Amino acid sequence: MIKEPEPHSFETEERPIVTAPGDLQPEERLAMERPGLRDWMELRLGWWGFVRKNLDEPMPPGVGWWQTLGNLLLTLLAFQFTTGVLMAMYYSPAPQTAYNSVKHLTTEVAAGAIIRGLHVWGSALIVVVMVMHTLRVFFWGSYKKPRELTWVCGVLIFQVMLGFSFTGYLLPWDQKAYWATVVGTRIAATVPFIGHELLILVRGGEEVGALTLTRFYAVHVMLLPAALMGLVGLHLYLVRRHHIAGPVMPQKGKPQPFFPNQLFKDAVVVVAGLAALFWLTLNLPPGLEAMADPAGTDFTPRPEWYFLGLYELLKIMPPGYEALATLVIPGLITVGMFALPWLDRSKSRHPAKRGWVMLVGMGVILLIGLMTLKGILETPPSSHHSAPAQEGGAPAVE
Ligand code: HEM
Repeated sequence: MIKEPEPHSFETEERPIVTAPGDLQPEERLAMERPGLRDWMELRLGWWGFVRKNLDEPMPPGVGWWQTLGNLLLTLLAFQFTTGVLMAMYYSPAPQTAYNSVKHLTTEVAAGAIIRGLHVWGSALIVVVMVMHTLRVFFWGSYKKPRELTWVCGVLIFQVMLGFSFTGYLLPWDQKAYWATVVGTRIAATVPFIGHELLILVRGGEEVGALTLTRFYAVHVMLLPAALMGLVGLHLYLVRRHHIAGPVMPQKGKPQPFFPNQLFKDAVVVVAGLAALFWLTLNLPPGLEAMADPAGTDFTPRPEWYFLGLYELLKIMPPGYEALATLVIPGLITVGMFALPWLDRSKSRHPAKRGWVMLVGMGVILLIGLMTLKGILETPPSSHHSAPAQEGGAPAVE
């Protein structure tokens, strides 16, 4: 029989009055009959009870710095939402205006360059931290029963984050944005049978143009944020429901509450992460290239760095085999990630007892790492080489 975990109670321990008014002292009952504003709110919202419950969340012995990355991700997401909303107040999603609205934001608006810098660097940092968080969960085997759906939810979040990056890249409507999207969207055309229809759907027409921009904007600021909020909410609910998994080899000792020790570690990592974010923003502000010129012929398409691995893979594919790099290999890795909790049949979470899973996992990590490195080393930092990808057929790459 499946044993249900203890249901969540949102009532504070200090307020048994809510459940058992008969046990109260007369003055306590009086206080509740005519409660102060704080008690009145608490009786209805249960907010402090909720906070208290989370501060008391038991951490198994051995939980520490590696478990701080999830909360760093939450903090970075909060920055992304805030800076994104601020930028949306100045951004205008049309080919004639998009570029100049971004230029205006960065050159004329007070703190505009910082807001854009935080958003651009924040997106890169989120990918780095998300990969670290995923690797931590993978090596700790924390995707195993009963946390399979926490993992699946995480993999979905991963896809959504890549979607954010792909759609956001086009928005400044400069040369880099335009040509990366020309090549990136052409991947849709490599899907067998419905490739062309898919390409039209993604671009809103044959070419990357005004409809592509509005489509990407709508997906970037409406569809994906809504999906992300739902998924992150579910992820956190599941993390709380199943509690955090302890280390691979259970350690001696009693579970400790989240507050103060783990909260302190989380705070240190969050402060360090934000310091890195501000340092990058202030010292390496993101640039803006020339405005997109669909008729230009002298631009080398350059995708965002975390798509460079895929791009390199595409470059080494012989003609006619492009779909291997655009669909088959990334598709297999994605399906493998979703199915990991069921593919890995071993009972133990110890890496040594998960032989083939570790081997395949390390192989994939190595492949992606090396291809990305190759891409970073080989991709010119600016734009002045060969002709852009030619329309039709497979994506043209250097
Ligand atoms: C923006 C993205 C994400 C956020 C905000 C987030 C947040 C969190 C938080 C706060 C925790 C608990 C603390 C910790 O273990 O660090 C956690 C645990 C977990 N996360 Fe994520 N996460 C994200 C992405 C992912 C991804 C991409 C995956 C996997 C592909 C994933 C899988 C898991 C799993 C399985 C756990 C449970 C770990 C355990 O019990 O030890 N998460 N996440």
